[in-house]
Amino acid sequence: MHRPAVFFALLLAFSTRAAAVVDYEKDIKPLLKERCVSCHGSVKQKGDLRLDAGALIDKSIHSDLIERVTSHDEDERMPPEGARLTESQVGALRQWFAAGAPFPSDEVIPKKPSEHWSFQPVKRPPVPESASKHPIDAFVFGKHEPSPQASSPALLRRIHLDLTGLPPTIAEQEKHPSLDAVIDDLLTRPAYGERWARHWLDVVRYADTNGYERDAEKPFVWRYRDYVIEALNKDKPFDRFVIEQLAGDELPDSSLETHIATGFLRLGHWDDEPADPATDRYDQLDDIVSTTGQAFLGLTIGCARCHDHKFEPLATRDYYSLVAVFNPLERPRKGRTELTVPVDGTEVYTWREPSGKAPETHVLVRGSPTRFGDLVEPAVPVILAKTQPSFSNRRLGLAQWIASTNNPLTARVIVNRVWQQHFGQGLVTTANDFGLMGAAPSHPELLDWLAHWFMHDAQWSLKKLHRLILTSRAWQSSSVEQRAKGVESKPAIAASSGDSGSLPSALSSTPYRYRRLEVEAIRDSMLTVSGQLNPKRFGPAMKPGIPKAALEANTDKEKVWQASDEREASRRSIYAFIKRGLVVPMLETLDLADTVSSCPQRQVTTVAPQALSLFNGDFVNQQAKHFAARLKREASDDAKKQITLAWRLALCRKPSTAELAQMRAFLREEPLEQACRVILNLNEFVYPE
Ligand code: HEC
Ligand code: HEC
Repeated sequence: MHRPAVFFALLLAFSTRAAAVVDYEKDIKPLLKERCVSCHGSVKQKGDLRLDAGALIDKSIHSDLIERVTSHDEDERMPPEGARLTESQVGALRQWFAAGAPFPSDEVIPKKPSEHWSFQPVKRPPVPESASKHPIDAFVFGKHEPSPQASSPALLRRIHLDLTGLPPTIAEQEKHPSLDAVIDDLLTRPAYGERWARHWLDVVRYADTNGYERDAEKPFVWRYRDYVIEALNKDKPFDRFVIEQLAGDELPDSSLETHIATGFLRLGHWDDEPADPATDRYDQLDDIVSTTGQAFLGLTIGCARCHDHKFEPLATRDYYSLVAVFNPLERPRKGRTELTVPVDGTEVYTWREPSGKAPETHVLVRGSPTRFGDLVEPAVPVILAKTQPSFSNRRLGLAQWIASTNNPLTARVIVNRVWQQHFGQGLVTTANDFGLMGAAPSHPELLDWLAHWFMHDAQWSLKKLHRLILTSRAWQSSSVEQRAKGVESKPAIAASSGDSGSLPSALSSTPYRYRRLEVEAIRDSMLTVSGQLNPKRFGPAMKPGIPKAALEANTDKEKVWQASDEREASRRSIYAFIKRGLVVPMLETLDLADTVSSCPQRQVTTVAPQALSLFNGDFVNQQAKHFAARLKREASDDAKKQITLAWRLALCRKPSTAELAQMRAFLREEPLEQACRVILNLNEFVYPE
């Protein structure tokens, strides 16, 4: 009986919804961005038309626009290339125009590229007035009450894990020195470099093999890994660190160490038997240019290889001018076998640059290695330099320009990386992209203050930067509130829009983000707690054991992966062999960086194999066994003592009465080893407070 009425009501609801459903933000803006803005945006204004903000789409253009997107005349139709707009896309545009082309009143009209914030010189803004004396807190909290501090045991554990990737020992838990003293102490430990080098290795696409079919080992590449660890431990100024990696061989005071640093240039994947050698050559140069752009400058210059960058003020000419900087490099090899370069008699994995005349570099039309366009000389992107630096030594010229205090990007980019690693999220959330398409900084003035301070007060010292950040309340804040709300994946900083630098009016909580540890820190913490961590440093990589099933796909199962013995495999994870074609499953499952190109931030996925790896994996079971044996050794047969010791080793606190009772009940049914497995799988173990 009611059917027709219901049906009619539904139909009505549906049709009114359909009529009202065209939404500028959801349907129109993304369409224009994807298909039109590359030619009609802030970078290029073909036909004097911009379509990148609602306010710019004047009524007088509406009918012309519809004509263009529906035209079958190849000279008229828009977009001029690629697929035509679909009927429903055209329909959406019509409906939007019919509705009066509404757009949000607060939509920001993108500025001209030359006015983009990150291309402006770094200036030091004044520290805002605040109750806090700490400059970071003054920027973050302003006149608001700072968020509460985490408890001391939680903070001690957080500081140790953050700086060294290892939990504090019991002796360290009992010492109670001031937090400042703990920070200073940890920054002098070798473990600091072993933790933080890993992030840089992600950024520079480090791996121990070349990838592709044969996936051959890169001989002596681990010396570059060791160079990074030592550079961080020595607190090599970051500007010098940049220069050594790009041009360590061209320095007047070059040494074995600075030659090893240029291994950076050769870390990319490489096909030792390419189908097309000319393309392969440009692929290798592209790997260097693209990585240099992303790692040091936060620019996606690689997009300008085949056409002018569609969204950034970077032309193919800019791209090939950078190719010209690296074009003299030759890859030392004998057929498919890679060779090293002898420096002072030891062997260095890097490129060779023969003396003499540099080869000519041309713009390649559409990126084709056989279609030569204009001849270019080494140059840096025009948008960033009113005057070009000297390129009498090509790579050194580029490196010194990147590392100069006048470069608007370098300091902002590295300061943001360090911030991101400490807080879980950068002030700019796109750490490798500071261009027009990158995210705007949540706290533009804080970022600039830090970048200026880093160059001029801290003299590019990363350790000073760590210290400044870790002593702030912003970083030391409790994450209890976030955990209670389950906001782990939500950005904690309320974004402030625009360049005015106005502080977010209501900080929902602290910028510190409650999050999972990286896989290296999880694995190294397990080894520490079980008492098995082998402190051996540097040298050739070790190979952790991997399940037989992971080898099934390989024809030469025996040869492809010869696992190290247990002692050797119990070294810190940074020393694990990274084979591009066969990543250790535990590392891969827990989101090791992709090694093909620069990785600005680890993904944090949540997938079932992680639980299998952590709860049933061979490695975790082995560590649980060692952990249990250690508890028996150090806490006798007394269950309460064992549980208490386990809690302090793994979680750096005493168990609560309830936890103690639960564990005692568990131990009446199950062996200690099982209890240890449970402890290594506690949320708190992998998600430090
Ligand atoms: C590859 C570059 C390119 C893309 C992408 C592109 N256009 Fe164009 N567009 C042009 C050029 C060049 C002109 C000027 C020459 C002409 O009028 O044909 C133009 C002109 C126009 C004009 C006429 C402007 C005037 O004042 O007469 C309109 C309208 C237009 N485009 C709309 C669009 C729309 C809508 C899209 C996306 C669906 C789009 N275009 C995508 C290159 C592009
Ligand atoms: C290996 C060559 C190559 C590289 C590298 C490349 N592109 Fe393209 N891209 C093309 C070709 C070919 C086209 C189609 C013709 C054109 O628009 O020039 C195209 C078209 C586009 C278009 C226009 C699509 C349309 O429908 O109008 C956009 C946007 C674009 N590329 C963005 C990018 C971005 C962003 C990057 C870097 C991440 C990039 N491209 C890197 C070859 C490349």
